Amino acid sequence: MAAKNCPACGGTGWRVEQASGGGRVAVPCACTAGDREAQGRKRARIPARYSDRDFENFEIDPYDRQEAHAAAWSKSLKEAKFVVESFVREYPAGSEHGLLLMGSCGVGKTHLAVAALKALAARGHEVLFYDYRDLLKQIQASYNPESQTTEMEVLDPVLKTEVLLLDDLGSSKPSTWALETVGHILSSRYNDNRVTIMTTNFLDAPREPGDEKLEQRVGKRVRSRLHEICRTVNITAPDFRERIKRAWS
Ligand SMILES: Nc1ncnc2c1ncn2[C@@H]1O[C@H](COP(=O)(O)OP(=O)(O)O)[C@@H](O)[C@H]1O
Ligand SMILES: [Mg+2]
Ligand SMILES: [Zn+2]
Repeated sequence: MAAKNCPACGGTGWRVEQASGGGRVAVPCACTAGDREAQGRKRARIPARYSDRDFENFEIDPYDRQEAHAAAWSKSLKEAKFVVESFVREYPAGSEHGLLLMGSCGVGKTHLAVAALKALAARGHEVLFYDYRDLLKQIQASYNPESQTTEMEVLDPVLKTEVLLLDDLGSSKPSTWALETVGHILSSRYNDNRVTIMTTNFLDAPREPGDEKLEQRVGKRVRSRLHEICRTVNITAPDFRERIKRAWS
């Protein structure tokens, strides 16, 4: 929506400008920029919860230095931020076909990945956010004969968007169908030279003995494909949200 009393456009949302080749063109007024940003975020499917997450508000030293591991956590966060920011800065000239952010729950993987997505979108690149579980559910729902959408309608943007963020890889049941679907998405995007950013809570070597490995969640083939395609970033830190709880108590 245009600002009602905007002096530049009189509330129409459009300004008339001199075109470079002569003549006049209507351009969107700056007062509508906020809308366009929100529309862009919606089109990119970035969850509202992450709408204001960016590199600036990603803290690299949020832990009390009294904590024995605070320095190591800070180093890990700093490195992760550095790698993701470099990736964005170099895109599309960089050599990486993907980025895989690994780490336990709440360490800031989605925050960093969304920051990257938004920075790329701001430079005019076409981006798309998909939660792994949602994506598989949507594809599966499309097989229902009563469904309004076809598998292709769901899959097409996922395969073709310039930069895809697949969040929480491995979060749903690793059925043969699911693993084949993910394998297909990764391979197609890789073959078409498209970049995929991913996050996962599952590690190659879990810290707790009972925890599942990434390989158990995405299968051997997808896992080795991931390492082939992606620069991996391991984040070792506590759940950021626990810190807030602790600070309040
Ligand atoms: N280093 C950080 N600085 C600022 N906010 C953070 C940081 N790490 C996590 N958060 C916030 O904590 C919440 C959980 O982080 P999130 O990125 O969703 O974790 P993950 O995807 O690793 O499970 C989010 O609201 C996120 O913005
Ligand atoms: Mg996440
Ligand atoms: Zn205006």
